[in-house]
Parts: sequence; structure tokens; C-alpha cells
Amino acid sequence: MWFMRQAGRSLPEYRAIRGEGSINDAIANPDLATEITLQPIRRYGVDAAILYSDIVTPVHAIGFGMDVVPGVGPVVEKPFASSDDLSRLRPLDPEADTPYVLETIDNLVAELDIPLIGFAGAPFTVASYLIEGRPSRTYHNTKTMMKARPELWFSLMDRLADLAIVSLQSQVAHGAEAIQLFDSWAGSLSAADYEKYVLPSSARVLEEIGKTGVPRIHFGVGTGELLGLMAQAGADVVGVDFRLSLAEARTRVPADKALQGNLDPAILGAPWEVVEREVDAVLESNGGHPGHIFNLGHGVTPDSPPETLEKVVERVHAYRA
Ligand code: CP3
Repeated sequence: MWFMRQAGRSLPEYRAIRGEGSINDAIANPDLATEITLQPIRRYGVDAAILYSDIVTPVHAIGFGMDVVPGVGPVVEKPFASSDDLSRLRPLDPEADTPYVLETIDNLVAELDIPLIGFAGAPFTVASYLIEGRPSRTYHNTKTMMKARPELWFSLMDRLADLAIVSLQSQVAHGAEAIQLFDSWAGSLSAADYEKYVLPSSARVLEEIGKTGVPRIHFGVGTGELLGLMAQAGADVVGVDFRLSLAEARTRVPADKALQGNLDPAILGAPWEVVEREVDAVLESNGGHPGHIFNLGHGVTPDSPPETLEKVVERVHAYRA
């Protein structure tokens, strides 16, 4: 078990050392990023660490003009709008462009006695930020480009898939023992559109990383209708958000895949008895299936009490024992 966003603003020790400024600056400081990654490991005793970085780190590093604004999310100065903008997405050279990420991984691998999970943003979710220019609820511009300019769309998806592949390969080469592909916003698409416009590029990323031999987790929010396709894209583990029980999710993905999830993070503020009941419901919904990574259905929110997360870890570990 581990928690998406286990490091970060819910932890007082994070707020104490994070400092002001963009998260990009914190990520570019390997000593700080190493410490932030380790904080939840010490506190919670989860079974895996996740690298402290962001899905927009590669596009930021190649100079696309992307920042992460506190309280808002990734914001782009000049959104992706035409074929001219393809040249702003040059290939990533991880050793030269993101040496700080690789140094952080080197530090972590030396310190950790549990696996480190690396990650990348899936082409669709990263494209949504590049095209919309900021977090969106409707993805109008993204869907318009997808349907009205499919050639440009697929060129963009190709470039973003290349960025994800090269970034993940470098993370695995430096010692990440599993990877998660975050297609956080794929749930905004119909299954037909996902299959036609998104699946091929995510499948290419997962196939390339499959060659390294590390397990691949494929996650999105609101993707209950897409789980079968997300498995088909080449995942070993399919992430399930809080909208669908694990028992129901099992009927939608092949039996040889593991599931990850899916405690609703919104419940973490409730009294412990309530959280405990919900944790047990997730474990029981899994029905003893060996292929289960306990996690939240989405990331830890900043207002989640760390004491509650500590108890969740204890409860899950006791259940396993
Ligand atoms: O899970 C982890 O603990 C690992 C670190 C991690 C971060 N971002 C650190 C972060 C990971 C895996 C991500 C992925 C990420 N980033 C996703 C996919 C996961 C998801 O939530 O579905 C997305 C969509 C982003 C883009 C992004 N970065 C958003 C929407 C925000 C929030 C902006 C805000 O301030 O409200 C960020 C910033 C960010 N990335 C923070 C952290 C800990 C918080 C900001 C900070 O401390 O400066």
C-alpha cells in the first residue's frame, strides 16, 4: 500500500521545509526533493515511496513555458494551438534537462529499503494542460483539437508519448522499481474517443516501459467506463478511483491484472470509526484477491489529518497479516 500524494501539503513537516516559490524550484533541489519523498515513509510506514516531482516536469524542463501556480495547478504562458507549437516540444534528454530528478532518484535508492515508484503524465492529461493553458473542467479546446485537427492531435500525442517514454526509462535506469502512468483526466472522454484518440499513445508508452520489466500502474479519475481499455493499453495494475467498487472493477479488467485503490480521500477528515469502516469495505470489496495495491481513489488532499493516514496504514497492514 501507498498513497497518491502521500508527500506534500497534508504534512506539517512538508510545510515547514517546502519554502515559497514554485514547486518546480523544490523539484530542482535534489536534497529537498529527497527529504520530501522520505517524509511520508518515516511517518506512515507505507510499502512504497513515490518520487517527489510532477507530471509537468519534463515539459517545463524543455522550456515550453509552463509553471505550477500554488492553489491553481499547471499554467502555460502560450498554450499549444497550432503546428508551429510542435517545435516547442523538442525531445527530452533526461541527463541534461532533468539531472536533478535523476540525482533525487539516486539519493532515494541509496536510502530506501522499499521500492521507489517513478511516474509520468500520460499524453492526454499533459496535452490537456498544454492546450487549455490551465486546469479545465470541460476540456473544450482539447476535444476540439482532437476531433477537428486529428493530424495535429496525433503529432502532439506522439511528442508527449516520447517525453514520457524517455523520462520513465531514465527513472527506471536510475532505480525506480515500478512506474505509474497518470492519465488523471482521461475520465472526461467517452470510451470510443479514448480508444481512438488516446489509447494508442498511452499503449506505446506502456509497451516501451514494459521492456524494462518493471510493473506498470495505469491510473485515471472517473475512468470506470475506461478500465477495460486502460488495462488493454498495457498496464499490469489498473488504478480505480472511488466511484466504483473494486468488486465491480474486477468484472471490467482481465483476471491477470492487479487493481490499485480505492478509498475515497474525501472521507479522511471523518472520525476514525467512519474511516475504519470505509477501509474495511475497500479490503472486503477486493475479496482476498492477491493482486491488490491498497491506495486512495485519488490523491491525499491538503486538509487530511496525518494521524488518520497513520491509522489507515496500520489497519491495512493488520488485515494483511
Ligand atoms: O503523489 C505524490 O506524492 C508524488 C508527487 C506528485 C506531485 N504531483 C507533487 C505535487 C505527483 C505524482 C504529481 C502528479 C500530478 N501533478 C498530477 C497527476 C495526479 C493527480 O492529481 O491526478 C497532476 C494532474 C499534476 C498537476 C498538478 N501539480 C496540480 C493539479 C497541482 C496542484 C496545484 C495546487 O497548488 O493546488 C500540482 C502541484 C503539486 N504537485 C503539489 C504537489 C505536492 C502541491 C503544490 C505545492 O506544494 O507546491
